[in-house]
Amino acid sequence: MNHNIAGKVVVITGASSGLGEATARLLSAQGASVAFGARRRARIQALADELIGGGGKALAVATDVTHWEQVKGLVDAAVQAYGRIDVMINNAGLMPQAPLERLKIDEWERMIDVNVKGVLYGIAAALPYMQQQKAGHFINVSSVAGHKVGPGFAVYAATKHAVRALSEGLRQEVKPYNIRTTVISPGAVATELPNSVTDPDAADRVHKFYAQIAIPPESFARAVAFAISQPEDVDVNEILFRPTRQEL
Ligand SMILES: NC(=O)c1ccc[n+]([C@@H]2O[C@H](COP(=O)([O-])OP(=O)(O)OC[C@H]3O[C@@H](n4cnc5c(N)ncnc54)[C@H](OP(=O)(O)O)[C@@H]3O)[C@@H](O)[C@H]2O)c1
Repeated sequence: MNHNIAGKVVVITGASSGLGEATARLLSAQGASVAFGARRRARIQALADELIGGGGKALAVATDVTHWEQVKGLVDAAVQAYGRIDVMINNAGLMPQAPLERLKIDEWERMIDVNVKGVLYGIAAALPYMQQQKAGHFINVSSVAGHKVGPGFAVYAATKHAVRALSEGLRQEVKPYNIRTTVISPGAVATELPNSVTDPDAADRVHKFYAQIAIPPESFARAVAFAISQPEDVDVNEILFRPTRQEL
C-alpha cells in the first residue's frame, strides 16, 4: 500500500493490454480504486474480476475513446461507483507507422481520433468533476515521439507532440482548481503497440526494434505511481524514460 495512492479513484483508458493494464494492476495493488475502459470488453472484464478477486476495487466499462459520450460514460460510472475521481489517465493510443508517401489516410485519421481527440475527451469528461472537487490529477501519455521526429512516424509524432502541448496548456489553466498535470513519455516498452503497424516494411522494423530493446510495462506503471504518490503540493509535470539501450 502507498499512503498517497491508497483510496484514490483512478480512471484509465486503454487498459485491455500493455501500459494501461500494468498500471491498473500496480495501482490496485497499492490500494487505489480503479475504473478502466477499452473496446475489448472481455479483456477488461477479466482484469476487473482478477483485481476484485485479489481484494481490490475495480470497474470495467467498454469504451471507445473516439466517442465522446463513451468516455464521459466511463468517467461518470467511476464517480457513481466511488463518489469522486482523483486521477484521469489518458493512455489509449495506437502507432501505425508508415512513410507519408504511402498515403495511409485512414490511419492518420485514426491516430488523430484516438491519440489526440481521445485525450481531449478524457479531459472534458474529468475536468468538471475535478473543478468541483478543487482537486485532481491528469496523466496524459505521450512518447519519446512527442520529443523526436523521424522518417516513418511523422503522424504518430505529431499526435504525441500534440499531447504534450495540450498537457502544458491544461497545466497552466487548471492552477486555480488545484489540479496536477503529468505527461509521461515512454521509449520502447513491450506491449501490443507494434501490432498496430500495418505497413509491412515498417512492421518488420518496429517488431525487430521492440524485440531487441523493449522494457516491461511495469516500468511505465512505476512512473505513474511515482507521480501520483507525491505530496499534493508537488506537481510532477514531465517524465521521459527509455530503455537504457535505446539511442533515439
Ligand atoms: N509501448 C510503447 O513502446 C509506447 C511508447 C510510447 C508511448 N506509448 C503509448 O502508450 C499508450 C498505450 O499503448 P501500449 O503501448 O500499452 O499499447 P497496447 O498494448 O496496444 O495498448 C493500447 C491500448 O489502447 C486501447 N485503445 C486503442 N484504440 C482505442 C479506442 N479507440 N478506444 C479505447 N481504447 C483504445 C487498446 O484497447 P482496445 O484495443 O481493447 O480498445 C489498448 O488497451 C499509447 O498511447 C501509446 O502511444 C507506448
